[in-house]
Amino acid sequence: MDRLETVRRRFREFAVEYASLPLYGTVSRHVADDAATASLLTEAQPGQARPVLWFAALHDLVLRRPDVPAARWYASVVGRGAVPTGDPWPDIRATVLAHEDELRSTIATRTTQTNEVNRSVYVAAGLSAAVDAVAAQQHRPHRSPDDPASGRVALVELGASAGLLLRVDRYRTTTVSPRGLRTSVGDLGSPVLCEGVDRSARRRALQPLPEVVARVGVDRHPVALDDEDAVRWLLACLWPDVPGRVERFEAARQVLRANPPPLLQGDLVDDVARAVDAVLDGAARAGGADHVVVYSSWALTYVARDRRFALVDQLARAARTVPALTWLTAEPPGCVPGLPDDPRAAAGLTVLGLRAWSGGVEARARVLGVAHPHGAWVDTW
Ligand SMILES: C[S@@+](CC[C@H](N)C(=O)[O-])C[C@H]1O[C@@H](n2cnc3c(N)ncnc32)[C@H](O)[C@@H]1O
Repeated sequence: MDRLETVRRRFREFAVEYASLPLYGTVSRHVADDAATASLLTEAQPGQARPVLWFAALHDLVLRRPDVPAARWYASVVGRGAVPTGDPWPDIRATVLAHEDELRSTIATRTTQTNEVNRSVYVAAGLSAAVDAVAAQQHRPHRSPDDPASGRVALVELGASAGLLLRVDRYRTTTVSPRGLRTSVGDLGSPVLCEGVDRSARRRALQPLPEVVARVGVDRHPVALDDEDAVRWLLACLWPDVPGRVERFEAARQVLRANPPPLLQGDLVDDVARAVDAVLDGAARAGGADHVVVYSSWALTYVARDRRFALVDQLARAARTVPALTWLTAEPPGCVPGLPDDPRAAAGLTVLGLRAWSGGVEARARVLGVAHPHGAWVDTW
């Protein structure tokens, strides 16, 4: 199959999967039948020719040029209440063809990049589970569900992107049970509202968060929150059709802009020890931490399989230098070395895993539960 046919098939599949999205669903259905607009995606770098890249390039264009005809269909430009009803395709096609060279160049040079703030739902759930696991390992008494988690933690995020998940304690994160019971943790007055359904049968997924005394992210391509171009691309990679995503991203950016989390440029395997050292330095300046929580959310999946084992070796080595170190993972099934297989972890889901060391000795690795990849729901067991 030639490249154009391949990308048209991908738009067709995308249109079926996301038929309910008024903009992206409709547009992908048209692009699949329109060689002139579909062909732009054939410019993508190897492995990148996905409809999401085509959509990100166009979203980036309308964010830069809100006067183009396509822009009025974007909630991120006109506001969610002002998006018209009707068929967006004539405006979209006209804009794409009028800016074809520019869009081809974006598609040829960019790759999609994300930082999903609503993943705080599962990061918050995992964080309190990590603290409880260390307490159990150290034979400390169980806390009641309403007690704040004891201990002072230092956070390291691997594959942190712009670092938005490193400030999970600055957002109001809420879960709603199927019976309507709401649980909120974090900064309850925060303008950044993260929310998901809690499907857990045994115990609430969210428990009060521990005190975070320091944080450091590491990323191959860290995004500085004052880099307008890079931040606009992160925004462009979000889907304007999905209510709340763009708004939450903007709110988080505003909250963190004045005090962005420190990000190291580097490789998440080769530089994890450097990141742990850096966060311990930060923690020492803030009075010390007794637990380092390292976490990765949809980042390890981009690392070659043998390199994932190398990361475990690095973490086990770092764990010998601190009272407690846990590795919280939110990755697709089968990605994290050492986690037990769990039949409840199906393709397309995010598996929440925990590996925990106290005094350098590792406890049994556990699957904590599963979640929607963007935190729309979480199910812990
Ligand atoms: C899909 S994004 C997820 C970002 C963030 N963790 C989240 O959940 O929103 C994956 C991130 O991992 C980073 N990444 C991928 N491989 C990496 C590596 N080997 N070393 C460092 N960062 C890496 C990418 O640059 C990107 O920022």
